[in-house]
Amino acid sequence: MSSRLHIVIRRHFSNYYDYHKSASCYDIEKNKPIEELKVLDAGCGTGNYLQVLHNCGVRRMYAIELNKSMINECMKKNQSLIESKVLQITQGNLLSDRLPFDDEAFDCIMLNQVIHHLETESSITSGFTNTRKVLQQFYRCLNNDKCSVVLINFCAIEQVLSGLWFSQFIPQASAQACKRLPKKDYMKKMLEDCKFEDVRSERICEIHVKEDVYYDLKGINDFAWRAGHSTFALAPPDELKHALHTVNAMIATSPQYVADFINHHKHIQSEIGSSHTFFGYKLQKN
Ligand SMILES: C[S@@+](CC[C@H](N)C(=O)[O-])C[C@H]1O[C@@H](n2cnc3c(N)ncnc32)[C@H](O)[C@@H]1O
Repeated sequence: MSSRLHIVIRRHFSNYYDYHKSASCYDIEKNKPIEELKVLDAGCGTGNYLQVLHNCGVRRMYAIELNKSMINECMKKNQSLIESKVLQITQGNLLSDRLPFDDEAFDCIMLNQVIHHLETESSITSGFTNTRKVLQQFYRCLNNDKCSVVLINFCAIEQVLSGLWFSQFIPQASAQACKRLPKKDYMKKMLEDCKFEDVRSERICEIHVKEDVYYDLKGINDFAWRAGHSTFALAPPDELKHALHTVNAMIATSPQYVADFINHHKHIQSEIGSSHTFFGYKLQKN
């Protein structure tokens, strides 16, 4: 069931920043032409995925985002899609009791790198109630006609702790970040608890930012670079200061030392991946 969708979406996520490589479409084998599928990008940010979806042939796109400045950027990037009524953007909070969409409004909903924003440091003890609430709303908003799908991409705890090259330099911040992330098995359980069926996941090895920028260790000195990795925001000032000092000392050691460090981390990344994408289906009840 839906194997083509599975392959296509994996390819889509694997080419996060190489939009031209993203091929094909969200064909979910329900005899609906691609241009009739309704797709919601939840927490769309500046809309990285919307252009990809459009290139794939999707013509009924919806996006919801909390942050006004993200929406403004997204609108700038996608002005023609908005004008041609292919795309509707809503400013809204995914944590509201009822999302501003009708029951069964979409064929596909994606939530990409948003979970850690929804959760707090007490999420592990509270059972990730925010994510559960959002998943319940997604289930309500997915249609019941043959098969619809939710796609959740997030970094698992081990991927944050061992996969990110800088985590070892900001251990307190990394530990805090992990408190906001469900374990992989728990994500599956939550989707199943929220009635999604045939839940499966894919390990995504590609990183979510441009690789040359991510592996430019000097970047850690730059506020804008650090802003691209939300874990840094959780680092106490002393920890950040110490991290900068240690990384700069490492850079000063020798280019070979840095190259070995980077290769080591690329190897780890290829072993454990940098994120997981979960797929959960809402199937038609006979
Ligand atoms: C890391 S960005 C990911 C953006 C986009 N999904 C992507 O993959 O390029 C997380 C986004 O989720 C948004 N966000 C966080 N909490 C939200 C909420 N409660 N409701 C709606 N959007 C939210 C943030 O404003 C931010 O734009």
